Amino acid sequence: MSLVLWRDCRLATLDGDQPWGAIDNGALLVAGERIVWVGELTRLPAELAARVGDEHHLHGAWITPGLVDCHTHLVYGGLRAKEFEARLAGMSYEQIARAGGGIKSTMQATRLASEMDLLRLARARLAQLKMDGVTTIEVKSGYGLSLVDEARMLQVARRLGQEENVELQTSFLALHALPPEYADNADAYVDAALQWLSRMHEHHLVDAVDAFCERIGFSVAQVERLFVKARELGLPVKLHAEQLSDQGGSQLAARFGALSCDHLEHLSPAGVAAMAASGTVAVLLPGAFQFLRETQLPPVAQLREAGVPLAVATDHNPGSSPLLSMTLAMHLACHHFGLSPEEALRGATHVGAQALGLHDRGRLRAGQRADFCVWGIDHPRELSYWLGGRWLQQRVFAGRAD
Ligand code: NIG
Ligand code: FE
Repeated sequence: MSLVLWRDCRLATLDGDQPWGAIDNGALLVAGERIVWVGELTRLPAELAARVGDEHHLHGAWITPGLVDCHTHLVYGGLRAKEFEARLAGMSYEQIARAGGGIKSTMQATRLASEMDLLRLARARLAQLKMDGVTTIEVKSGYGLSLVDEARMLQVARRLGQEENVELQTSFLALHALPPEYADNADAYVDAALQWLSRMHEHHLVDAVDAFCERIGFSVAQVERLFVKARELGLPVKLHAEQLSDQGGSQLAARFGALSCDHLEHLSPAGVAAMAASGTVAVLLPGAFQFLRETQLPPVAQLREAGVPLAVATDHNPGSSPLLSMTLAMHLACHHFGLSPEEALRGATHVGAQALGLHDRGRLRAGQRADFCVWGIDHPRELSYWLGGRWLQQRVFAGRAD
């Protein structure tokens, strides 16, 4: 197989002990879908240099690993711009949800949309995220809230992953809100959702299981029943935890060895300790924090001190985070939560991958997938610095440039 050489670039490998894992005068060698060599161009072994077919001269541009958006609700119908106005006029997110807006209004629009429409809309959003460097994305169900409609969401997500040059991981999020069919009967809804999960797992629609553990979502006891089922099926779990209040969901998730707990604005010291002990990633979602005008900050310093890995994601959804840029999510994570630009890039690459249970991407290293980005910037800290803008020159997925 002939090799492809990306040369005359600077590399933020995020590997090794150096800040950013930076390499000047860098080169990156790709065979098919894998990176086979990374280093200074002058050190490229002669036997590898002899096998180079194509060369890309990058004139000093920076290469980073491809970005991983490990928490999105990308598939849905309708928008909620009116709720944005209502919140600006003083209503809270919880008040809107209790008044029948919120997740349930997106549920209605999603149920009414055809699969073709859901696919078309999700593809347009994905295109925006890709323009900003995303090569791996997670997509949740959670706006169908019935067997048929949850399955439709996951089928649309699967199809998107097959048709687009991106890796897409799905999460089953039926425990997102209580649908009208089960009003005042949350436990019966959980019973039904457990059966749906088995069915959808049989059809290979589910990579992981998620839930919204909250006053306006589901209780710790209800989520525990879901997690027991996930364990029986051999599926990893994750949780929307302590976003609006401290329910202790993170401790439950930690007991089940969760891949990640996400949001975490109201996380307690006991929650931090539990996540540290179980190796659970903290997924920070500064888009939702900003969009909902939250003031309670997640305990980032304590998480960092306890050694909990910090990921950053968009949480793209129509109600609490209509954010379509990972670099803007990185900026917001620095601005609101005090991450350093290097932490933000790590959170958007290898730590985000870890939150999905993926260890073959997120660093520029021989053996890793050849998913990477070429940026027209002078330093990778700029990825967190700019408030918007498009700095991506090329996105490479599985060794192939767009
Ligand atoms: O991650 N927190 C719960 N779920 C979403 C919001 C969904 C919505 O409002 O439509 C979130 O922020
Ligand atoms: Fe979410």
